[in-house]
Amino acid sequence: MIDAKMNAGELLTWYADAGIDIALLDEPVDRFAETAARKVQTSRQPQPGPAATISTVAVPAPTPHARPPQTTIPDEGVVQRAVDIAREAQTLEQLRQAIAGFDGCNLKFTARSTVFADGNPDSRLMLIGEAPGRDEDAQGLPFVGRSGQLLDRMLAAIDLDRTQVYISNVLPWRPPGNRTPTPQETAICRPFIERHIELAKPDLLMLIGGSSAKTLLKTTTGIMALRGRWTTVTINESQFDVLPSLHPAYLLRNPTHKRLAWQDLQSVRTKLAASEPTGSEK
Ligand code: URA
Repeated sequence: MIDAKMNAGELLTWYADAGIDIALLDEPVDRFAETAARKVQTSRQPQPGPAATISTVAVPAPTPHARPPQTTIPDEGVVQRAVDIAREAQTLEQLRQAIAGFDGCNLKFTARSTVFADGNPDSRLMLIGEAPGRDEDAQGLPFVGRSGQLLDRMLAAIDLDRTQVYISNVLPWRPPGNRTPTPQETAICRPFIERHIELAKPDLLMLIGGSSAKTLLKTTTGIMALRGRWTTVTINESQFDVLPSLHPAYLLRNPTHKRLAWQDLQSVRTKLAASEPTGSEK
């Protein structure tokens, strides 16, 4: 709880622990000065009615416009623009630049970095999470915070490291305070991750967590029902083998479920070995 005796450092720590760790504007806003200015303005305005007197009572600050109810139907114009821009990219580097230059998703304006990918783009295994968190936003790389450290240990359990896998997220921008992305934000960013998969052409995809699985499999089924079951996803002409699995952030909160993630990793290892390319194949 906020306590009147907290010093500035303690207050900042309290906010950071609550997930409020970014400023939305570059310059601070002095709300006290705004209120004082409104008081002066009010006192100068002619007051209506016969008994008009000079008022110095502060007018309540205007409340923000009510947000329209969150719709699951995205703005087709922006989504189509994302589709067109993504489709134009012929290489991963072109896609990275296209995403960095895209201004159609509001998340970009509160994030510090556009987090594109990490690891080896030639890898046969691509992992896709939900969205960058605070550490990822600060470093510009996916899965580098606590979840990422657990992910590294999970990969090590099947003798893989970041040089042997390719890692990205459905969203390239951190939602402020790590809030859940809106359906609109996800719909706008989906064309980019789909094109990312198409261009990287992994043999196998591991969808890390419910949000990634639901978005790429276009389903509302929960991750517990999806995980551990291989399926395919079709992006334009290409088909990819996909395994949804549990998110390391979830495993940090529910360590008893690590055995399920372990089973999924074993399944990936087996499938990679079974589809090992021969000779000049990837
Ligand atoms: N969680 C994710 O889904 N992705 C990241 O990059 C970090 C945390």
